[in-house]
Amino acid sequence: MKIILLGPPGAGKGTQAEFITNHYDIPQISTGDMLRAAVKAGSELGRKAKDIMASGELVSDDLIIALVAERITEPDCARGFLFDGFPRTIPQAEALVDAGIAIDYVVEIYVEDEEIVARLSGRRVHEASGRIYHVEHNPPLKPGIDNETGDALVQREDDQEATVRNRLDVYHQQTEPLVNFYQQLAAANPDKSAIFRRVDGIGSLDTIQQRIVDALG
Ligand code: AP5
Ligand code: MG
Repeated sequence: MKIILLGPPGAGKGTQAEFITNHYDIPQISTGDMLRAAVKAGSELGRKAKDIMASGELVSDDLIIALVAERITEPDCARGFLFDGFPRTIPQAEALVDAGIAIDYVVEIYVEDEEIVARLSGRRVHEASGRIYHVEHNPPLKPGIDNETGDALVQREDDQEATVRNRLDVYHQQTEPLVNFYQQLAAANPDKSAIFRRVDGIGSLDTIQQRIVDALG
């Protein structure tokens, strides 16, 4: 199973990815998580990506395409994978088509901008694992502490309101056109292309999970 999770920052892609990857026994490929790991490790990729990510702009297509191309050759991708936060531009989506990678489903999680600004101010993450919490909607057992390791949770640097608003602008300009791209691809090639599904991203975590199960039929 090869799935793309599409949707604005804070739509709940990473949150729902945890369930989908367990359900289908496929790895999550989050380019955001991979880039944050590279920044933390201080690698060449991390040095190039750090300031761009902090401002909410996108890292260049060539760096991202090379990163993903390498990742999907790893053995755990043999049964498929879940892309979370990739592709994010038309050239990234075209690179997948050119590489002959047949996606089964594109699932867009849809949430309005104002809800996202409110959501992301309450997000807390466990840096080492990428586990995601929310102070109100998905709180840890002990405030500020990861459930599994007992480590302190942190706020992402790009979750400040001004940066979130820029990430939303970038999403509308560069990533939202992918909705049309995949709908047109499916219309032109009904047999070979990914099935496109839009899921309403407002509701409890379990409700959204059920909508995704239904969408993946
Ligand atoms: P990335 O890490 O991909 O960030 P993003 O797309 O902005 O998405 P987020 O991780 O912020 O949101 P999410 O949808 O995963 O939401 P979550 O589940 O955490 O990218 C970061 C940066 O890296 C980019 O800005 C860019 O610079 C770079 N980058 C990455 N990929 C790239 C690419 N392909 N090309 C170029 N550059 C790239 O949920 C958010 C919060 O809401 C959490 O607190 C959660 O608990 C809560 N929540 C979840 N569901 C619900 C619900 N139903 N109700 C209430 N609260 C909820
Ligand atoms: Mg995420």
